[in-house]
Amino acid sequence: MIRVRFVSAGEGETREVEAADGAILLEVAQNAGQPLEGTCEGQMSCSTCHVIVAAEDFARLPRASEEEEDMLDLAFGAARTSRLACQIVLTPDLDGLTVRMPSEHRDMQGR
Ligand code: FES
Repeated sequence: MIRVRFVSAGEGETREVEAADGAILLEVAQNAGQPLEGTCEGQMSCSTCHVIVAAEDFARLPRASEEEEDMLDLAFGAARTSRLACQIVLTPDLDGLTVRMPSEHRDMQGR
């Protein structure tokens, strides 16, 4: 099992969950009740799955593709260590990964 820690935007409340090898971070986050919409379901066309990876964990992730970088440019509240959760596949070497929810959450569907 791979431990993942989610940090909420406002209070910085943390929630630690365990995920299976090969799980997609977006799905793990949604199952843990995190407010990530993931509107396009991993098609890299919405950026509502944007998370900010802890600086110390960022280098452990495989590099983002150019498409992902382009979407991150559009993401609201993006930081230097932002990633799209739908593009992160959890592997044992990511054990202990900490990600924070972006502080400004904009609903792409305007609901
Ligand atoms: S779910 Fe849309 S970009 Fe990740």
